Amino acid sequence: MKITFYGHSCFGIEVNGKHLLIDPFISGNPLASAININTIKADYILVTHAHQDHVLDVETIAERTGATIISNYEIVSYYGAKELKGHPVNHGGTFKTADFSAKYVNAIHTSSFTDGTYGGQPGGFVITAKEKSVYVAGDTAVTMDMKLIPMTTKLTASIFPIGDNFTMGVEDAVIASNLVECNQVIGCHFNTFPPIAIDTEKAKKTFSEAGKELTILEIGTSIEI
Ligand code: NI
Ligand code: MN
Repeated sequence: MKITFYGHSCFGIEVNGKHLLIDPFISGNPLASAININTIKADYILVTHAHQDHVLDVETIAERTGATIISNYEIVSYYGAKELKGHPVNHGGTFKTADFSAKYVNAIHTSSFTDGTYGGQPGGFVITAKEKSVYVAGDTAVTMDMKLIPMTTKLTASIFPIGDNFTMGVEDAVIASNLVECNQVIGCHFNTFPPIAIDTEKAKKTFSEAGKELTILEIGTSIEI
């Protein structure tokens, strides 16, 4: 499973030759100006919630690629009205293909589009393929519901927001890492805007002192898990 960081909370995940794109917010992110949304690959676009910093480029990329949008019912319906292809799920439900599965799990946050349209309840995804699983928490506080994930899934890595203010911060992400029983964490949702600016070296140290590893990917780079 190859994971590529496109800035903020946007990741590409390549599994079995399929390209999953999570929460595309690229054209509005000056830090991601080197990423070209007109060439980015997507067979599926997974959307955690409707906030602008997670959906800005969904339409542009879905129109060009014909990707299937996987999200909650309200978000898929919103894009369906724009003639974009989608598959709705809801909390606890799993989208399954021969190449991967993606379970929509709880997040504590809010979800609305910039035009005020209700964006359903926010979520995260547990993506599984080839005996590897990654938990994409989405925007969320640390929540005891995270304890449910390791009851069914042994996680290889977790993608957690660490920027504080709108989501959990570093200290709570360490707690989240304990709850999901996964010590390999990839950080997101930091430094894009002033309210979520953090000291990434300090964040890494906080994780290592807890016996965990925090990976901060440079935008445009990938890791294999
Ligand atoms: Ni949000
Ligand atoms: Mn956000």
